[in-house]
Amino acid sequence: MSKGRYYITTPIYYPSSKLHIGHTYTTVAADAMARFKRATGYDVKFLTGTDEHGQKIERVAKEYGMSPKEYLDKIVGEIKELWKTMEISYDIFIRTTDDYHERRVQQIFQKLYDKGDIYKSNYEGWYCTPCESFWTETQLVDGKCPDCGREVELTKEEAYFFKLSKYQDRLLKLFEENPEFLEPVSRKNEMINNFLKPGLEDLCITRTSFDWGIPVPFDKKHVIYVWLDALSNYITALGYPENEEGDYSKFWPANVHLVGKEIVRFHTIIWPAMLMALDIPLPKKVFGHGWILLEGGKMSKSKGNVVDPVVLVERYGVDALKYFLLREYSFGQDGVFTNEVLLNRINSDLANDLGNLVSRTITMIEKYNGGIVPKPKVDGEFDEDFKQVATSAWAKVEEKMNNLDFSNALEEIWKVVRRTNKYIDETTPWILAKNEKNKDKLDTVLYNLAEAIRIISILIQPFMDNTARKIWIQLGIDEGPSTSWEASKEFGKLETGIKVHKQPPLFPRIDVKKELEELEKLNKKNAKKEEKKQKKESEKEEKGEITIDDFAKVDLKVAEVIEAEKHPKADRLLVLKLKVGDETRQVVSGIAQHYKPEDLVGTKVVLVANLKPVKLRGIESQGMILAATAGDKLTLVTADIESGSTVS
Ligand code: ME8
Ligand code: MG
Repeated sequence: MSKGRYYITTPIYYPSSKLHIGHTYTTVAADAMARFKRATGYDVKFLTGTDEHGQKIERVAKEYGMSPKEYLDKIVGEIKELWKTMEISYDIFIRTTDDYHERRVQQIFQKLYDKGDIYKSNYEGWYCTPCESFWTETQLVDGKCPDCGREVELTKEEAYFFKLSKYQDRLLKLFEENPEFLEPVSRKNEMINNFLKPGLEDLCITRTSFDWGIPVPFDKKHVIYVWLDALSNYITALGYPENEEGDYSKFWPANVHLVGKEIVRFHTIIWPAMLMALDIPLPKKVFGHGWILLEGGKMSKSKGNVVDPVVLVERYGVDALKYFLLREYSFGQDGVFTNEVLLNRINSDLANDLGNLVSRTITMIEKYNGGIVPKPKVDGEFDEDFKQVATSAWAKVEEKMNNLDFSNALEEIWKVVRRTNKYIDETTPWILAKNEKNKDKLDTVLYNLAEAIRIISILIQPFMDNTARKIWIQLGIDEGPSTSWEASKEFGKLETGIKVHKQPPLFPRIDVKKELEELEKLNKKNAKKEEKKQKKESEKEEKGEITIDDFAKVDLKVAEVIEAEKHPKADRLLVLKLKVGDETRQVVSGIAQHYKPEDLVGTKVVLVANLKPVKLRGIESQGMILAATAGDKLTLVTADIESGSTVS
């Protein structure tokens, strides 16, 4: 029987670079929570995905010399691969380029417009592309983005605005009346004092200076602001607004959005205002977790200091990494990552505490009872306290998990692990084994140890699924009634007479000094690689010189326009049919503001004939035509000679 429904989300990630350990932090936390809720009887929906529109992605794709879609398919594939490696149990992976999402975002935009909460005006202000964030002059800090400290760009364009200011009072009330809405509470004051109290301004929600976004349904030269597009994913993924009967009616409002602290503002001001405007319920909670920092500050690709989760998983296993991330750092706070902390944590908690407990117990059952789990016979003096610790842990774990306190949930489990190790020291089975008279006592101790390990395996399963399963193999049990969450509440569920199976250590002890050296070497190698890559790139940019051979690679041909029409989906683009000798080509060109389609027919233009084809807003472009620009002026390069002629 289901205890109810539980909807949890991670942010949707920008596929603008390789994901690092910091990104996996949110997803690992959400995964543990989703598994925990499933184990405790909830019907769970766990959403993650990718945030694929906007100026930033358009630029990155260009740097790679790919069309956005081509670039995205590659990186999104890598992200999905990473989640597979990390064994992330998401139920839905949304891409904001999915058709259904694009369509539903347009419907949401239309609804807000029809309601009168969107109006057209002019935007003049600053834009931070890495944050995809608008700022007023006064919000800037030393002329830079107040969030990330990077350069901002002056932006001046016709735009649609969302009446955010209208929701100011309701938002203030939300924070005041619902202390659980934003956690940890420390983040609440920042929102109130820095954003709500000074007064909210209406939010610019469309852009016209680039194309890579969802078009405004009734004004196609505008694309919808990437944050409006991205935030909507939490409801479009459930069917809203097309289908409000299915998952949407079951899972909205979300129980919790997990987000990093730098995007709390979007999730606790803009997002609830949008939902208020749509007249639908707000998420029950937004949790803004801290950052994982490196000793020198934040991880960033440009610093060349990203920690690659794949390398760590390869070396220590996915369970060790998940355990470390959730145990080491307090979820609401920043923490510093070093290889040394990681290795020490693995050694002390996993290799020593848990790993040794399991291997000692199995070894003793083999040695003293032929590998068979004995029947417990008599209660000893240490049993009561020990059993009480083991059977009461589940309630504490539940309490901590419900507070998103992953670190202390694990600490509660480790109290049982340590208590069980202490029980071995208290009962000294190796001494009991020396005297046949103590056989009953010994049997009881061996059974109790195996039983405590069974309970521990259940409690760790949401965090470390593989390890739980490995323990069951060693205990000789299968997944079933004795491994359910319920079965962690009671002592004595483990069958007797079953055979245990000794296996290699769960977490081999790491020689920290040696391993640190290995990692250092690896790091240096990667840093060199990155440096080389950056040097090459900057050389390319700075020098801007190419050889005659480079130039010869470009195949320029004269082409005659035989047909021209407007792009159905983009006001700035024309779709041209070109005759190149005997061949015809279709090219999409951004010249609609400068040429009427009908005036172009018969013009002989210069075509880059061997450019890799790309799709521009859904239409394939097989090449590019040359134009000269000066400020707002643009004129096509023409050539009065037969089509098909080579230009060199
Ligand atoms: O912000 N430590 O995407 P994103 C902890 N697309 N968390 C970190 C981190 C670190 N070092 N680095 C990144 C976006 N994160 C938007 C979200 S949601 C509608 C749109 C976290 O790829 C970061 O805090 O820049 C954020 O929660 C998540 O990774 C995705 O960041
Ligand atoms: Mg970010």
